[in-house]
Amino acid sequence: MIILGIESSCDETAVAIVKDKKEILGSVVASQIDVHKEFGGVIPEVASRIHVENISYCIEEALNQANMRMEDIDAVAVTQGPGLVGCLHVGVQAAKTLAFAYHKPLVPVHHLAGHIYANELVVDLEFPVLALVVSGGNSELVYMKDETSFEILGQTQDDAIGEAYDKVARVLDLGYPGGPKIDKLAREGKPVYQLAKPKTQGKYDFSFSGLKSSVLQFIKRMERLNQTYEKADLAASFQEAALGEIFDRVKAVLDDYPDVKHFVVGGGVSANSRLREKIAELNKLYPHVTFTVPPMSCCTDNANMIAVAGEIAYLSGRRADDSLTANAGLEIM
Ligand code: KG4
Repeated sequence: MIILGIESSCDETAVAIVKDKKEILGSVVASQIDVHKEFGGVIPEVASRIHVENISYCIEEALNQANMRMEDIDAVAVTQGPGLVGCLHVGVQAAKTLAFAYHKPLVPVHHLAGHIYANELVVDLEFPVLALVVSGGNSELVYMKDETSFEILGQTQDDAIGEAYDKVARVLDLGYPGGPKIDKLAREGKPVYQLAKPKTQGKYDFSFSGLKSSVLQFIKRMERLNQTYEKADLAASFQEAALGEIFDRVKAVLDDYPDVKHFVVGGGVSANSRLREKIAELNKLYPHVTFTVPPMSCCTDNANMIAVAGEIAYLSGRRADDSLTANAGLEIM
């Protein structure tokens, strides 16, 4: 099957053409990072306008790369949600137009499912799967007993982990996006500062807002006392606490769900070098589980993952008609 996937949930306009869930024939990602850098974060209205400017070019370029015409495509898949509603609308509208004009099936995809299925590009998923999705908008632990069932075991109660990285980086004056900057700085420091441990309700839920405030309070206290602190040590302390929050929950799930065969990750934060080290350590503790950390091109927002998720959804019978609308708070399906 040849699927054209469209992703526009946040600040990347992406279009990809993927064959049989594995072969990327064409893939374009137009990142808006340079624009949003100036504001220190994504401005939704600005992001939507740039999607409008980019989407047609991205579709054309993906088809050119694949050396294909719309007639060669079997179905059009699109991120329906969750995400920024104005941004999602651009992708959904483009997908509906293509599907209508070229008489192609239209397949709505959940963004999180896309991040999970991105792993299919490098490995066949073995079920039950435990997926950790960590990005600027998501922090979820998802249990999948088979290809089309999603059970959210844990999720953030406040900020997503990537959001916390970006906000802490702003306080430390490191620039946007903060994740890679903190990752790099933390390697030069040690986690010597004690930060508040967040409280959560559900056994597998996360919380990052208290940790972020704790970093802010620490800096204010040091300034008040006229004391100096090492930025690199503070970055390392924040990172250890944030990843500790994640990995305590992952371990708890792996202990409570001994049937899990495959652990996969997705989302921009899975680029983090310490997170990757921690996954390798975890692999040693659970040798019966296959651990997959896909290459970075699969982890950050892209449309390859939407095309793969689209093929799976298509084969399970999911279709939409021209009444499809973007859904910023879409539940996973
Ligand atoms: O998945 P993604 O590209 O976009 C969405 O959020 O949808 O993720 C972007 C997030 C940002 O918050 C960024 O700071 C974070 O991923 N990130 C990282 C690293 N690289 C990107 N966080 C921690 N360490 C990194 N190396």
